[in-house]
Amino acid sequence: MIGTDLNTAINFLKQGELVAIPTETVYGLAANAFDITAVTKIYKVKDRPQFNPLIIHTDSIEKLKSWGLILPEKMLQLAAQFSPGPLTYVIKKSSLIPDIITAGNDAVAVRIPNHPLALALLKELNFPLAAPSANPSGYVSPTNAMHVEEQLGNKISYILDGGECKVGVESTIISFMDDVPTILRFGGLSLEAIESVIGKVNTVFSSPLTVHGSQSKPIAPGMLSRHYATTHRLIFGDVEKNISAYSSNKIGIISFHKKYDSVLEEHQFILSKNKNLDEAAQKLFSAMREIDKLNIDVILAEKFPDEGLGRAINDRLKRASVEESY
Ligand code: TXA
Ligand code: MG
Repeated sequence: MIGTDLNTAINFLKQGELVAIPTETVYGLAANAFDITAVTKIYKVKDRPQFNPLIIHTDSIEKLKSWGLILPEKMLQLAAQFSPGPLTYVIKKSSLIPDIITAGNDAVAVRIPNHPLALALLKELNFPLAAPSANPSGYVSPTNAMHVEEQLGNKISYILDGGECKVGVESTIISFMDDVPTILRFGGLSLEAIESVIGKVNTVFSSPLTVHGSQSKPIAPGMLSRHYATTHRLIFGDVEKNISAYSSNKIGIISFHKKYDSVLEEHQFILSKNKNLDEAAQKLFSAMREIDKLNIDVILAEKFPDEGLGRAINDRLKRASVEESY
């Protein structure tokens, strides 16, 4: 059921049911994070590996503190600027946070999403919401209510419709578990914005190996190497070159601002004619879903400029292009 009724969403969540919620990044598949039975349903519905931990969402720093979490100084500096917003903080967990949320790690990921409906909902709850992106594990994240309905509609109690997501890629994840803060996933808040507040940070690029790595390492987020994937094969990189290499195939294209004359116009998704990376990020996942419905053999995707949200776009396209499956 899709709707805009907050009370319906609240009641289902209090009863331990799953509700898809809008955020500014992507739609989340939410459950009461303190209810282990409810959280178990998330893993089942998404077919998500148990070793992949979940982000918890709430509406205020005060609530995070009230659940026994200790918030590092640099996190508070970032939060003053960017929360609510597309930034997730990985910090030491407290005993109140169930192990199923953190997949047994001693760190928990927390976020205050910036969406009016989500904030209004979270305000009414005295528990955090565990919410991964509301897609089957491994597929592209949903950026509107219909995306959720198409894939998970018959498996969950309610979809709270908050319109199109304004940011369109998942949150940036930053870990405070080491001395120097470390970006674990590029996302909706740029590296530049983060470093303008807390100075230089490290970045970690996840590989399948880190997934099964030692407990002391942060589990790499978005972590399966093949992730955010389309059903059609996706080739990431020099499109001009790949048009020649795949000339015997029916080709679809995802590009930043350029049109390619040798490929059918209706098979091309130009993400921002004005060369705006924020606009491109906002449209990326819808384009990936739309192009996946076309009668084509292969998707060719450009590499975007490695700055601002271009980093998040490149990360998602790269993961979508990885051939091996885990
Ligand atoms: O924008 C977002 O972050 C969306 C919306 C719904 O908030 N959520 C989202 O969740 O993208 P999900 O589960 O699809 O991706 C969260 C990533 C996962 O790759 C997971 O590995 C990582 O966050 N993660 C969660 N808890 C972690 C932890 N304790 N340490 C390190 N990484 C963690
Ligand atoms: Mg996800």
